[in-house]
Amino acid sequence: MSKPKVLVTRRWPEAVERRMAEVFDLDLNTADKPLSQSDFRDALGRYDAILPTVTDKLPATVFEGPSMRARILANYGVGFSHIDTDAAKGRGIAVTNTPDVLSECTADIAMTLLLMVARRAGEGERELREGRWTGWRPTHLIGTRVSGATLGIIGFGRIGQAMAQRAHFGFGMKILVQNRSPVPAEVLARYNAVQVPTVEDLLPQCDFVSLHCPGGKANRHLINSRRLDLMRANAILINTARGEVVDEHALAQALWFGTIGGAGLDVFEREPLVPEALLGADNLVLLPHLGSATRQTREAMGFRVLENLTDFFDGRQPRDRVA
Ligand code: DGY
Repeated sequence: MSKPKVLVTRRWPEAVERRMAEVFDLDLNTADKPLSQSDFRDALGRYDAILPTVTDKLPATVFEGPSMRARILANYGVGFSHIDTDAAKGRGIAVTNTPDVLSECTADIAMTLLLMVARRAGEGERELREGRWTGWRPTHLIGTRVSGATLGIIGFGRIGQAMAQRAHFGFGMKILVQNRSPVPAEVLARYNAVQVPTVEDLLPQCDFVSLHCPGGKANRHLINSRRLDLMRANAILINTARGEVVDEHALAQALWFGTIGGAGLDVFEREPLVPEALLGADNLVLLPHLGSATRQTREAMGFRVLENLTDFFDGRQPRDRVA
């Protein structure tokens, strides 16, 4: 039997590419440049499986081609708001993602941002590298204490819980949670967390707010100017979820006018573009979408895709099927 024809849309860790090439008739994107929408339309007619990632935009129009050979989009990443899953489903194409394996590292990046903003680490490093540091003084770069503060977590799935683990056990933080569905009592009890009904209930009670909900239409601009106004004047917002969850224009205003204390962002609405107003805000720490960027996690993501694909082509239900 011939091997399924598979397209990997970006470079992956070498160990995974090597293993994939043994199992499938594999095409790699050796130039590592994002594919265009017409490349995707063409690929959907030529490959049995396409392995996209967050930099690949797959709206409904991509699925309008006359002939579809593709049977599965095995996404490299947990978030899949860049794929119109209804349109894929309409053409009989399955979609999978890679949950679990990146939860710990993504929570590490959220905690990194939280600490960096609270302790003004970005500002301090810039000052030092630019030769502006004049030495220790009692009033220099005074930040906010993290230990014992209240952290609000919006979206209490695997990554939200990994964040609670760090914040509660590492920093003695009080945890408030807002989640679409009720969180089981034993899960809340693990972190001594309290679930509140709405985002509006959560925001005014928190020193830090960390976003861990999915992206996509449903959560677009979940954090808007009205909700930023509900945050405490010195509170800090962290986003490692998806760029579209935060209205960047409203956030820039809140940072410039000091209606919140600061923010840390790992994701942006129009990556890799970052608005000038954000780049100029000193009380903001910016990272280039590094949540899952460790060797161990990026390899685990690739092997999880391999597992999903193998199950699919062997006639089993892939464990991470989302559509
Ligand atoms: C994800 O998994 O969704 C990350 O944001 C990209 O790897």
